[in-house]
Amino acid sequence: MTSLHFYFCVALVIKTGVCGVYVSLSNDGPAVLGSNITFTATVLGYTDEEFKFEFYDNIQPHHKDSLIKKSNVSIWNVEYPRDLYEAGEYTAFVDLRKFFFPVWYLEASANTTFQLTDSLNGKLMLSQNNTDRPNNFVAVNKSVHHYVKLPDNEIQFLENNSSSIVTHWFLDCVFFDTTTDFALNYTYEDTMTDHHVEAIVVANNEPLPPITTTTTTTTTTTTTTTTTPKPPASIETEIPSTTQKNVTITNDTTVHKVQKRAISNRTFKNSAKEIVCNNTVPVGKSYTVGRFQQTVSVRDPISKVDIAGRNWLQHGDLLDLQVKYTGSPPFDYCIIYKLGQYNVTGNETCKTTRTVSNEFPLVHYFPDIDQHTVVVVIENDIGNYVSSVTVNIYKGLFSAPGHAQLSVIVVPVFFCLVAVILVVFGIAYYQHRSRHTVEVADFDFGQANPEYKSFTERLRDSFRNAFNFGHRDDTDPLTPDTRYDSMT
Ligand SMILES: *[C@@H]1O[C@H](CO)[C@@H](O)[C@H](O)[C@H]1NC(C)=O
Ligand SMILES: *[C@@H]1O[C@H](CO)[C@@H](O)[C@H](O)[C@H]1NC(C)=O
Ligand SMILES: *[C@@H]1O[C@H](CO)[C@@H](O)[C@H](O)[C@H]1NC(C)=O
Ligand SMILES: *[C@@H]1O[C@H](CO)[C@@H](O)[C@H](O)[C@H]1NC(C)=O
Ligand SMILES: *[C@@H]1O[C@H](CO)[C@@H](O)[C@H](O)[C@H]1NC(C)=O
Ligand SMILES: *[C@@H]1O[C@H](CO)[C@@H](O)[C@H](O)[C@H]1NC(C)=O
Ligand SMILES: *[C@@H]1O[C@H](CO)[C@@H](O)[C@H](O)[C@H]1NC(C)=O
Ligand SMILES: *[C@@H]1O[C@H](CO)[C@@H](O)[C@H](O)[C@H]1NC(C)=O
Ligand SMILES: *[C@@H]1O[C@H](CO)[C@@H](O)[C@H](O)[C@H]1NC(C)=O
Ligand SMILES: *[C@@H]1O[C@H](CO)[C@@H](O)[C@H](O)[C@H]1NC(C)=O
Ligand SMILES: *[C@@H]1O[C@H](CO)[C@@H](O)[C@H](O)[C@H]1NC(C)=O
Ligand SMILES: *[C@@H]1O[C@H](CO)[C@@H](O)[C@H](O)[C@H]1NC(C)=O
Repeated sequence: MTSLHFYFCVALVIKTGVCGVYVSLSNDGPAVLGSNITFTATVLGYTDEEFKFEFYDNIQPHHKDSLIKKSNVSIWNVEYPRDLYEAGEYTAFVDLRKFFFPVWYLEASANTTFQLTDSLNGKLMLSQNNTDRPNNFVAVNKSVHHYVKLPDNEIQFLENNSSSIVTHWFLDCVFFDTTTDFALNYTYEDTMTDHHVEAIVVANNEPLPPITTTTTTTTTTTTTTTTTPKPPASIETEIPSTTQKNVTITNDTTVHKVQKRAISNRTFKNSAKEIVCNNTVPVGKSYTVGRFQQTVSVRDPISKVDIAGRNWLQHGDLLDLQVKYTGSPPFDYCIIYKLGQYNVTGNETCKTTRTVSNEFPLVHYFPDIDQHTVVVVIENDIGNYVSSVTVNIYKGLFSAPGHAQLSVIVVPVFFCLVAVILVVFGIAYYQHRSRHTVEVADFDFGQANPEYKSFTERLRDSFRNAFNFGHRDDTDPLTPDTRYDSMT
């Protein structure tokens, strides 16, 4: 065979540039016993050739199948009936063969392990506002849609083989309701608490009654045999009458009207794994059961975002705002600065800072003179909130740019004028004083007593003369004396 392999490989290299193709195998398990598992073989390095896909598994009794296909993908669907197989981990194989006269020569092979389980595989999902929650946090006072999401192959199995399917719901280890649509709506009213939710799906796999017989089997659905769990003695609850279905609950003294909000009052600080509720539903051999749990954490969404502070800033001033909001901590926030007007889309993201406080300061310096939009993004476990504030930076003393320029001119001009007036005033005053002294000396010869004016009189005269300076009063007896001044 080695010479054949060599011959084949040379042919392949000539054709594809690689010696050999690869195959991979995958499966859509795990799956509950009774359902089908789909295996998918994918050829890598495929070049439009015809292959023989040989599938087989290692379960007893085992399956074997082969398909000749001119395709890079081949699908093998296998049913694992409950009465033939046991739960466990098994392996399936695929051998990829290419016809090379005179044999199907083995090209590549692959294997995959798959799980068969006794109970259903699926997930308890939480949805609010018609959107699946990405985590187990839900908003307070808003209806939470809890639902069990099963893999397609299990849904197919249940649909084909069940006379009835019901889901029993337990909130904080207390039976709450039974539904037939795998779903429960419930509104949590207590923020900052955790609740344990368990859903037990029970499918009756009794064969569907032939149409001609009476429908006795349908009346023996599990709803009538449901037992309540034995909840811890401290928990007492009331099943709201509006949601109470005609489910027969066993004579358990704890299930009676006591505290109105007992369910939502109970909180769990431990993780979901540590809570063992021992919720049970009695089922026979012909039932398929699935058990799904989730810890639901109730939180307040972010709301009432308030951004306070001055948003008209003189150039050079710091933007100093205070951002306040309500909601459950911790918060992650960040700020985006946009030049000019910006309309927020609500999906803005940025690198965040964590805080447990419900306010933070927003300080920023804008070096330019322009309009800016400050976008504030705040997130918590429930979701995010985007708000924005427009900031205007202006220049000068007054808000309007025209006034600012005017003031730059008016203020210095005004003070210059004042200075000039003072200087002129001062010079004039001293000129008068010196002239008066000269005058007194001149008249000294004709006057008998030069001291005929008292000091106060002379002071008064001086002031009068000084204030008459601007009047240029010709009647002023001192005015002609200016000629003396000019001569002296
Ligand atoms: C299989 O081949 C088709 C075309 O023949 C190609 O479009 C497709 O991507 C291939 N799939 C894989 C998994 O390689
Ligand atoms: C499955 O394939 C891997 C390599 O992909 C191999 O190591 C392993 O031995 C195979 N398992 C079996 C059971 O053949
Ligand atoms: C609910 O979702 C819609 C869009 O799917 C959105 O417009 C609306 O704001 C959401 N409401 C709340 C309260 O989140
Ligand atoms: C399982 O596969 C078989 C064929 O292999 C098909 O007849 C049967 O309907 C399938 N069952 C389910 C539950 O999909
Ligand atoms: C539960 O909530 C979902 C989604 O909000 C809604 O489609 C459904 O009708 C509700 N079911 C009941 C019984 O109120
Ligand atoms: C939720 O609703 C309940 C009852 O209406 C009320 O007491 C509680 O304050 C609400 N919680 C929040 C956070 O709005
Ligand atoms: C539920 O019980 C009430 C009386 O307790 C009855 O009137 C009603 O028809 C019952 N509903 C169903 C669906 O059996
Ligand atoms: C509930 O149980 C008590 C004794 O444990 C019994 O006396 C009573 O009749 C029962 N009630 C019903 C409705 O079965
Ligand atoms: C409910 O909460 C109140 C106050 O938080 C507390 O005093 C009371 O004991 C709680 N009840 C139960 C049943 O846990
Ligand atoms: C649940 O069952 C386990 C063992 O079966 C037992 O140890 C535990 O105490 C039970 N829990 C409750 C709340 O009954
Ligand atoms: C923001 O939205 C308003 C109307 O909603 C629109 O007139 C304006 O042009 C938008 N601005 C930008 C920058 O998109
Ligand atoms: C945000 O939403 C807008 C439309 O509302 C979309 O055009 C844009 O691509 C989204 N951006 C991101 C980062 O998701």
